[in-house]
Amino acid sequence: MLKRISTLVLAGLTAVTLAGCGGGGGADTSASSGGDGSITMGFSQVGAESGWRTANTKSVQESAKTAGITLKFSDAQQKQENQIKAIRSYIQQKVDVIAFSPVVESGWDTVLKEAQNAKIPVILTDRAVDSKDTSLYKTFLGSDFVEEGRKAGTWLLEEYKSGTDPVNIVELQGTTGSAPANDRKAGFQEVIGGEAKFKVIASQTGDFTRAKGKEVMEAFLKAHPDIDVLYAHNDDMGLGAIEAIEGAGKVPGKDIKIITVDAVKDGMQALADGKINYIVECSPLLGPQLMDLAKKVVKGESVPARVVTEETTFTQEQAKAALPQRQY
Ligand code: AHR
Repeated sequence: MLKRISTLVLAGLTAVTLAGCGGGGGADTSASSGGDGSITMGFSQVGAESGWRTANTKSVQESAKTAGITLKFSDAQQKQENQIKAIRSYIQQKVDVIAFSPVVESGWDTVLKEAQNAKIPVILTDRAVDSKDTSLYKTFLGSDFVEEGRKAGTWLLEEYKSGTDPVNIVELQGTTGSAPANDRKAGFQEVIGGEAKFKVIASQTGDFTRAKGKEVMEAFLKAHPDIDVLYAHNDDMGLGAIEAIEGAGKVPGKDIKIITVDAVKDGMQALADGKINYIVECSPLLGPQLMDLAKKVVKGESVPARVVTEETTFTQEQAKAALPQRQY
């Protein structure tokens, strides 16, 4: 009984401590670490669709080891139902904290409520959910994808500032319904939408993969002989599209200007080689910050509702300079 009362008092204190931290209200999740201070994290990864994702997985696994956190890792193969199954299994296993990168934005409330009822704190990493109830997760660590889209649009505006001719753009979107696909599209549109000469003549998902990027670009090239610019939501789709462009006898980076997002090594090499014109960085190295946040939420300490990753952009010259030190 005494234990129950102290748990309730602790729950009250936690709610007060976290008030104003957004994403931090709701159930008491502070008392779950395994008594001896050890922490077990259940991590549900999106998949292995891109170079970015491989680097992100490595960062999470290595940082868990360094932080002394036991990691239970699962790969959802880009399927929401696999992520929901993984989260339910982590709840059953009574892990201390759950972290996941949601493949799509919608449809998480039920499983997140289950975690909350089980008093297991959840951290969103890399991608957001669109749940209205922000008490369902403690914090969201990751990039500002809308800003990334804006940066891509801003480069385009500058590149074509002097002409009045129409600029025909094709867009390779990320996974349908995912936060980066929604936000990178919105940010780009926000910047170029004010100028009538910029025309997005085709826009389709390439699912963030190289193979799909190539396939969709081949179809774009057949349907539209007059493409000036490709905006790809990640490097991998851009790299696949480069193969399609070369296959069609055109010169990537010259006949068709290319903007991508991520800045993984392969993308940076293509930028340095002149096949891509501009890359907006999206850092996958989220592991160290994730482990720090996990330790805090397990202890019941307050954390910011949103932690935005710092990132930059690269021109061809900047890519040449940065490549030798590039970690991923
Ligand atoms: O959520 C981040 C995005 O997912 C990366 O930009 C993309 O490469 C990955 O698949």
